[in-house]
Amino acid sequence: MSQPYFVIDGLKASIEGKEILKGINLEVKGGEVHAIMGPNGTGKSTLASAIMGHPKYEVTGGSITLDGESILDMEVDERARAGLFLCMQYPSEITGVTNADFLRSAINARREEGDEISLIRFIRQMEEKMKQLEMDPEFMHRYLNEGFSGGEKKRNEILQMAMLEPKIAILDEVDSGLDIDALKIVADGVNSMRSEERGFIIITHYQRLLNYIKPDFVHVMMQGRIVKSGGPELAERLEAEGYDWIKEELGIEDVTVGQEEEEFQVPMNTTPPEFFRK
Ligand SMILES: Nc1ncnc2c1ncn2[C@@H]1O[C@H](COP(=O)(O)OP(=O)(O)OP(=O)(O)O)[C@@H](O)[C@H]1O
Ligand SMILES: [Mg+2]
Repeated sequence: MSQPYFVIDGLKASIEGKEILKGINLEVKGGEVHAIMGPNGTGKSTLASAIMGHPKYEVTGGSITLDGESILDMEVDERARAGLFLCMQYPSEITGVTNADFLRSAINARREEGDEISLIRFIRQMEEKMKQLEMDPEFMHRYLNEGFSGGEKKRNEILQMAMLEPKIAILDEVDSGLDIDALKIVADGVNSMRSEERGFIIITHYQRLLNYIKPDFVHVMMQGRIVKSGGPELAERLEAEGYDWIKEELGIEDVTVGQEEEEFQVPMNTTPPEFFRK
């Protein structure tokens, strides 16, 4: 495997005719962890959904490429096969499909016909990863997310990520609902997967997660754009001071997207990604 290179350039996306993403620029290379922060309703989850190709979100401009190839024409499953993975903020429950069945199909869907993972090998891998995430083995045979507690769902999302070994992993509020011990376990799971072969986009509201998973870059979203980027110190400042100083800098009051008045627009982030690279 090689170092993946994921580029979002001027991405615009709408839902039911309402523009939510207003020109997102982001570049993620293998080995990097990018944190995306920002107040509620500013487009973070929409960005994650648009990347994964959720049919509700219509991309109206810009491009997304993985290793130089556009993913925008790909179906959701093709994007997964290309190496994109999303740990969802609200994972759905699927009755009748066990966790193991689901994961095995997902793994095999990414492989060539005739090269499917053997049952023995799959179970061994799943058991090993579940142990690492301190999950009860019974979760293997439970229906996907059905009746899982909030924290169990999040842990299960990380398990899926660990099994699928994506090139670009997007984690949407993976820390929400986790108790302190679980937070550490999940963070350890993520850290053990950090490598040149994988890039991470981590959406979070809290510096706490970033104490465990040290980001290389921190971006702030407001009104459907990345309005500020920096290093880990940016997250620390947000933790200490909140978002008011950024709002003041930008001269805006309402940070959410979708309700703003047409004539007012915050500027796009025009800082070239190279600027943040040492
Ligand atoms: N499926 C949808 N239908 C209608 N509106 C939507 C939909 N998805 C997103 N929106 C709207 O887009 C805006 C941005 O939502 P999004 O979920 O991306 O915010 P967020 O930054 O992830 O917020 P949070 O921090 O609360 O998770 C919100 O106003 C939301 O109501
Ligand atoms: Mg969200």
